[in-house]
Amino acid sequence: MKKLIVFGTGHLAKALLPTFLAQSYYQIILIHYNEEVIQQLKQQFPECEVKSKIDWELQRDDVLLLLVKPQQARKALLNVGVSLIKKCLIISLMAGINTKSLFLLTQNQRIIRVMPNIANSTNNGANAVFINPNLAKQDVEIVKTLFSKSGKLYELLNEEEIDVFAAILSCSAYFYIALKGMVDTLISHLGFDPLNAMNLMHQIINGSISLLEPDSYQSLSEGCSKAASKGGITEQGIKVLQENDISKIFSQAILSGVAKAQAFQKDLNEEIQKGLNKPLT
Ligand SMILES: NC(=O)c1ccc[n+]([C@@H]2O[C@H](COP(=O)([O-])OP(=O)(O)OC[C@H]3O[C@@H](n4cnc5c(N)ncnc54)[C@H](OP(=O)(O)O)[C@@H]3O)[C@@H](O)[C@H]2O)c1
Repeated sequence: MKKLIVFGTGHLAKALLPTFLAQSYYQIILIHYNEEVIQQLKQQFPECEVKSKIDWELQRDDVLLLLVKPQQARKALLNVGVSLIKKCLIISLMAGINTKSLFLLTQNQRIIRVMPNIANSTNNGANAVFINPNLAKQDVEIVKTLFSKSGKLYELLNEEEIDVFAAILSCSAYFYIALKGMVDTLISHLGFDPLNAMNLMHQIINGSISLLEPDSYQSLSEGCSKAASKGGITEQGIKVLQENDISKIFSQAILSGVAKAQAFQKDLNEEIQKGLNKPLT
């Protein structure tokens, strides 16, 4: 049976595992170095094998998912050694580390980068994939099958776009902050208890999203004008948002995230490529 080795079993790995488990043609092996964590993983994911390290040679049909933090990658891969992972397909979900650096760290050319988000756990993920044009069609199919079931897969033409995409994924956190501001207002100023406030706001936002057409930019402004009648209550609130230049605030947040992602990848790759001219053994 083909093996799917999950190297790094933190937040994202746990969000992705249910969809991987649904794809029964893989035997899933989780790797963690700590015995206590191994026992927890065994309880949480009884369908998976859990091992403390990769100490066998991965085969051509096997898939290695890199899910450690980018800063941990060099040390983690050094511990494995290139001879064990040179045949398998490698899918890196790590931000920042580009394919050139990944090749230096693994000596394996079969590398695909995917940038997923946590909403894969509810099959609403937004996943970006960068596929090196030299990669075999079968490898591309493996990645598409693994990630398209848990959300949408956006194919990127340039690898640099992955860092921009990573920063764009942060929009879900910005959205939660905006939502929290609204829920907190209901609680602090309008006498709602937290449960009712959250429940009501969840329904309002769900309804608002259901009215949007994902392929129509226009549906955004249409939705806004339908919700706000002239001289009405909503228009009054929109005026406050506009006076405070809400669009500019979101724009600054997104662009500062993009700048941070680009600087992060530059430093990380320079460090790996300078310090590592020879393969790991
Ligand atoms: N979270 C997201 O929404 C998201 C989105 C897109 C991409 N990513 C990428 O996904 C990766 C994981 O993110 P995350 O949020 O899941 O981070 P995380 O929760 O910190 O998970 C990383 C895991 O790797 C483990 N680890 C560290 N060194 C290891 C080693 N030598 N061998 C085996 N396991 C090791 C860590 O264990 P200990 O903590 O016990 O040391 C931890 O369980 C990152 O590269 C990130 O860039 C994350």
